Amino acid sequence: MTLTDELSAIVGAAFADEGLDPAFGLVKASDRPDLAQFQCNGALAAAKGRSENPRALASKISDRLKATGRFAKVETAGPGFINLDLADAVLAARLDALAADERAGGWRRPNPEKIVIDYGGPNVAKPLHVGHLRAAIIGEALKRLMRFVGDEVISDIHLGDWGLPMGQLITELKRERPDLPFFDPDRTGSYPQHPVVSLEDLERLYPKAAAACKADPAKAEEARLATAELQEGRPGYLALWRQFVAVSRAAIEREYADLGVSFDWWKGEADADPLVPEMARAMRANGIVRESDGAEIVDVARDGDKKEIPPLILFKSDGSVLYGTTDLATILDRKRLVDPDRILYVVDQRQSLHFEQVFRAAGKAGIFEENRLEHLGFGTMNGKDGKPFKTREGGVLKLRDLIDMVERRARERLAESGFIEGFSEAEAEDVAHKVGVAALKFADLSNPRTSDYVFDLDRFMAFEGKTGPYLLYAVVRVRSVEAKAKDAGAGEAGPIIIATPEERDLALSLLAFGDAVRASYEKRMPHHLCDHAFRLAQSFSKFYAACRIADEGEARIRASRLTLAAAVAAQLDQALSILGLSAPQRM
Ligand code: ARG
Repeated sequence: MTLTDELSAIVGAAFADEGLDPAFGLVKASDRPDLAQFQCNGALAAAKGRSENPRALASKISDRLKATGRFAKVETAGPGFINLDLADAVLAARLDALAADERAGGWRRPNPEKIVIDYGGPNVAKPLHVGHLRAAIIGEALKRLMRFVGDEVISDIHLGDWGLPMGQLITELKRERPDLPFFDPDRTGSYPQHPVVSLEDLERLYPKAAAACKADPAKAEEARLATAELQEGRPGYLALWRQFVAVSRAAIEREYADLGVSFDWWKGEADADPLVPEMARAMRANGIVRESDGAEIVDVARDGDKKEIPPLILFKSDGSVLYGTTDLATILDRKRLVDPDRILYVVDQRQSLHFEQVFRAAGKAGIFEENRLEHLGFGTMNGKDGKPFKTREGGVLKLRDLIDMVERRARERLAESGFIEGFSEAEAEDVAHKVGVAALKFADLSNPRTSDYVFDLDRFMAFEGKTGPYLLYAVVRVRSVEAKAKDAGAGEAGPIIIATPEERDLALSLLAFGDAVRASYEKRMPHHLCDHAFRLAQSFSKFYAACRIADEGEARIRASRLTLAAAVAAQLDQALSILGLSAPQRM
């Protein structure tokens, strides 16, 4: 139970004792923390239901709450709001439990599920760019969050490895190096194992191929044919395609690893391909497929739709499959493999229509319950001009270059601030990497997932304010406080005693973790957790400025403060690890 759950139960019981629905007892953190810690507004609605004066009802409830002895303050305010402050002893007892909890007070889901989360979605042979950043960062954070609350989570990168770009690459390479054995239709032996293309080749070939197909219909037709032959299993093309995928994957893996992003499955669109015929048969048998100009389509529009939802195209008139077909077959594949309760897709908001069509078709076909498929869309990272972020030259920024740029900037900032003075080169590099990645990730995660945001490296990189570097710095500082106390022989940690306003504020921040985890989880919005981590770091900073720790004279208070510091360290670690940030040992 989170703290507000527990309070809601107490206040709900008071409503029940007045013969009212306990649901009226819903408690939340106060909108006016300067006036009270928590509030309950239920008396207003409850009084309306039985035409009672809301203030009078609120004051009856308040009397019952006072009698529980758990509150330092119970106040009726305005037309019938109830303002609450918890008694310090209650806060202290809750904190003792939190300090002993290995999950640092995080909420746990009562009914965990098995979840497949699809994020990343890079495409073979195309360099990763900033557009892939958000999918990776948000997907990784949600995966970790879901595991933290108890779900069984399987992450799948869902590589784009099976469409027309593959045929375009094959034909482009064929024009450059027609003698490669992969192109010989009469070959019977095996094909070279060692890759005949490098990553640089692929990154050069793909734009060239795409441009050639755009400019020349004959080349486009060749590419279409090669795609079809590949998908029908022409051995030379398949062998070559495997090389494209392997070379690309190695590079993608490196870049994601740099960002602390990893996947359980490295499946791709190609893996779903064998399931397409079966999926289509099931859909036809269901009677939901109809023919339209030679194509096979599924109507997914419904009465009451606010905008037009066009039919999903299962097969084009030439029999080829589209993005939607592949996604439907992938759902079937996942169902066969792990039978998940739910599938989540962390993909650009701009693909929402696609997912709407796929989810409706899956539901209609009985492949997967529609409301157990969720598209978790995200906004774009824009430049200062408000348009999707570009390089100074106007091109798409490669992820690799972005990471390099952020690390370089971190290194400069750290040096300017004297944070890496006397560090070895290896340690300085490690700290710069961690700070740079934290700056980038936190800046992304701290915005509501669905919003756009502006890339502003100087703001992301500041050591003050709501930034990744500030949080890493906070973690390092709490740890150094603990280390100093140990060196000074400050003794053991002990039970919590709350005496000062700063300790009370820190207690409330620590105890809000459960609600923050829950809100982040239920809304699939990591920014609630970012807000929490920032609030906690700030509370600690005020506490540290106002209260002695290692050199506090009174042993009981010193022991309590050591417990507080340890709880902050543990909870910040936990929060940062869910967000995918890693703190250096020192800086
Ligand atoms: N490769 C796709 C793209 O670049 C993203 C894939 C997202 N996942 C999915 N199951 N459709 O747009």
